[in-house]
Amino acid sequence: IGQRIEYVESCTSTQIIAHQLAQENAPDGTVVLTETQTAGRGRMARKWDSAAHKGVWMSIILRPNVPPQKAPQFTLVTAVAIVRAIEEVTALQPKIKWPNDILLNGKKCTGILTELQSDADGIQALIVGIGLNVNQDKEDFDLEVQGIATSLKMISGQTVNRQELVRAVLFYTELYTQMYIDEGFGMLKILWESYSTTIGQPVRARMTNHTLEGIAEGISDDGVLQLRTLDGKLHGIYSADIEMTN
Ligand code: BTN
Repeated sequence: IGQRIEYVESCTSTQIIAHQLAQENAPDGTVVLTETQTAGRGRMARKWDSAAHKGVWMSIILRPNVPPQKAPQFTLVTAVAIVRAIEEVTALQPKIKWPNDILLNGKKCTGILTELQSDADGIQALIVGIGLNVNQDKEDFDLEVQGIATSLKMISGQTVNRQELVRAVLFYTELYTQMYIDEGFGMLKILWESYSTTIGQPVRARMTNHTLEGIAEGISDDGVLQLRTLDGKLHGIYSADIEMTN
């Protein structure tokens, strides 16, 4: 990963560029990196605030030879890689909130957005977008997210070297995605659960048309959150917004 890095000073979204490059047959591991995005996007069609020169805004093109049902775990694997990278470069100890938010002191410092290019032959490319808040101060965030977002600098009190972070994120993403492809999700699931704030906790899961409350018991081998409601039933949650209820 990162043999080829497309660096642009500014763009609409690194996801858009990465999708284009992937369609033009960019090789596995190609990275798109930028200083600022005018239309950074998050999950569920939300916008992603990307202050200039203060974060790591990048998209990684992966071309794993796996069936489509093995795609969602790449997000979880990337989350583990980012936590390891932050731990290595700073003294911080981030946590993961299912599926893909990385938290410091309960606030979000990183989001991951995985998008799929697929056709009848299977997965053509996975575009893994990473938005890592590094050196922002509170005022650098849009008002709407100031209460829920944070940066490495806001928590550690120190400016963090973004180059070192990019290097560490690419290193661990390569290590763990390769481990996932070669050996499956087993070890990585244990690692993921060890970093998770969600597991073992009472949560509320908001889905498009309904909400469930219960205890998040774990994730399955295919990355699906297992939520046990009060009536004892176990529900598999594929996609939702999770809120801690304790
Ligand atoms: C989320 O938590 O909703 C995911 C946020 C992902 C943001 C990153 S920033 C780099 C890449 N380009 C985008 O437009 N989005 C992702």
